Amino acid sequence: MSDFAKLKDELKDKLSKVQNSGDLDIIKTEIFGKSGLINSEFKKLGTLSPDEKKKQASEINIAKQELTKIFNDKIAKLADIEINEAVKKEKVDVTLPEKDFRIGKIHPVSQVIDEISSIFSEIGFSVEEGPDVETEYYNFTALNTPENHPAKDMHDTFYIEENMKTLLRTHTSPVQVRTMLKGKPPFKIIAPGRTYRSDSDQTHTPMFHQLEGLHIDKNITMGHLKGCLNYFIKEFFEVDKIKMRFRPSHFPFTEPSAEVDIGYKIENNKIIIGEGDKWLEILGCGMVHPNVLKNSKVDPNKYQGFAFGIGIDRLAMLKYGINDLRSFFECDYRWLNYYGFDPLDVPTSYRGLSK
Ligand code: PHE
Repeated sequence: MSDFAKLKDELKDKLSKVQNSGDLDIIKTEIFGKSGLINSEFKKLGTLSPDEKKKQASEINIAKQELTKIFNDKIAKLADIEINEAVKKEKVDVTLPEKDFRIGKIHPVSQVIDEISSIFSEIGFSVEEGPDVETEYYNFTALNTPENHPAKDMHDTFYIEENMKTLLRTHTSPVQVRTMLKGKPPFKIIAPGRTYRSDSDQTHTPMFHQLEGLHIDKNITMGHLKGCLNYFIKEFFEVDKIKMRFRPSHFPFTEPSAEVDIGYKIENNKIIIGEGDKWLEILGCGMVHPNVLKNSKVDPNKYQGFAFGIGIDRLAMLKYGINDLRSFFECDYRWLNYYGFDPLDVPTSYRGLSK
């Protein structure tokens, strides 16, 4: 028997006796490694005559195949054994006493976004998103906002670049244009998200949340807008009656434009929605300006519709009686524990939104 055949048999024997993947790795190097059996044998071929070379090379190749097969079978077998052992060791003792742990809470803003999305999805709106870092074009120009509009003022807008072409979006309205550009009418969407303005007091934070609504079709009117918002507010505040008023307003991207107030009163330090003679502004809205439709590649002679922008944080404050907006973003665990929601209570209109 040649030295090679002897060595091969030895290694075959070793291979069959291996018990763990560590030892298998060692043998792998001895057989297939750079200076392992197979490679060393191939290196010897150079000194042989052509005939012997052929014969020997074929012998090495056959040996290599044989060893590879045994090696692969062994890997599979060891993996099986090792998994079975791990499973045996990692048994869970379900009779152990429970550990004390704290359940995380859903932030009121997330809760309110889920509630609003659930209400609008019931009447056929789907959810869209847009980027927080916007271009000047989508945030202002495409929305028919003239070059010298006060909203573009440095004090209001956070610009990211000195050339004032990139900014943190000041409202969710750019999602209107982005959505229309990527699809074909009709459109019926809502777009919740973060918005940014340089402002901070009890009811303003530099980052806040808005929810944009957009409904474009052939015959959509102010009447549809009114009906839609009336339905939404009743559902959201879980009341049967609501006092709502439209006040004429101005936005460059809607014509006509309105702001919507809801009626409320304060009784025993609690806000009661839908009664009383106080008014609170909660959203801006209007019929989408023909220039916005044109900029979004929608024909204003065929299509029209409404848009609205709701302040989400304000709605959360009102519904859940939270009186300082700044506390929303302080990340105080005690606050979240008090005002937060159970993660398993996903809001749905049919089951009750916030119960
Ligand atoms: N984008 C406006 C704002 O931030 C709200 C709005 C949205 C008004 C859509 C009209 C239509 O104040």
